[in-house]
Amino acid sequence: MKIGVFDSGLGGLTVVQAMTQVIKGAQIFYVADTKNAPYGEKTPEQIIQYSLDITQYLIDTHQIDALILACNTATSSAIAHLREVHPSLIIIGTEPGIKPALAQTVTGKIGVLATPATLQGEKYQKLAQTLSSQKCVEIYEQACPGLVQQIEKGEIDTPETQALLEKWLAPMRENNVDTIVLGCTHYPLVSRNIETIMNSKVSLIHTGEAISKHLLTLGMQKGHINEGTLEVHIHTTGEIHTQMIDSLIGTYEKLHLIEIKSH
Ligand code: DGL
Repeated sequence: MKIGVFDSGLGGLTVVQAMTQVIKGAQIFYVADTKNAPYGEKTPEQIIQYSLDITQYLIDTHQIDALILACNTATSSAIAHLREVHPSLIIIGTEPGIKPALAQTVTGKIGVLATPATLQGEKYQKLAQTLSSQKCVEIYEQACPGLVQQIEKGEIDTPETQALLEKWLAPMRENNVDTIVLGCTHYPLVSRNIETIMNSKVSLIHTGEAISKHLLTLGMQKGHINEGTLEVHIHTTGEIHTQMIDSLIGTYEKLHLIEIKSH
């Protein structure tokens, strides 16, 4: 199976990391669209265009059988378009894990951290409304503008990143939030910082494992045999913090700088 995966940058590698635990006998072609990052501060039209262009590149250059949108923001704006344009491709998106958070919370107070574009999107609004009407919970939503840029620079433990997180998490700490949904694939990279600020009294909801298992099920239905080695090829449209890649993905093929044509 040839699997295309994309995100605006390093974030989607947290999903690839989870995939390496589940998927065997496949090739992953990852595109980090750092030239256009951050997606979360772009318009839906821009995000749709980037997503269509990257998907076309992955189909033309690598003949992918499956596409993973390892990005909540791109899923929110573009997954419906991608499914319409490529009906025979397996397409799996990433959505904030509100459902597992509802199942897990004891205090009934849930935090959701995501990009501005994801929280403003209709898809998220509907998901949050439907699920929160099923159980009496309070949801504390927080957009985190600027956090993706800090992570892309490798600034995980710097005072600036710490100050941003402390400001955003203060209402969650004061209100006994016990479960926080990481609604952006970049945020697992600061999960330790979040746990420390919340005094470890919090469960963080990640989505990488669920995506990987879903991909495995759909892939096997189409004849994928889950045996053998997994190759990871990383492509970037601009600058990228290579040490951050090394810390996330043990072994990968060479890093390729690519240009994506706009259609
Ligand atoms: N990692 C992405 C997400 O899951 C996008 C971050 C960004 O580029 O703003 O939403």
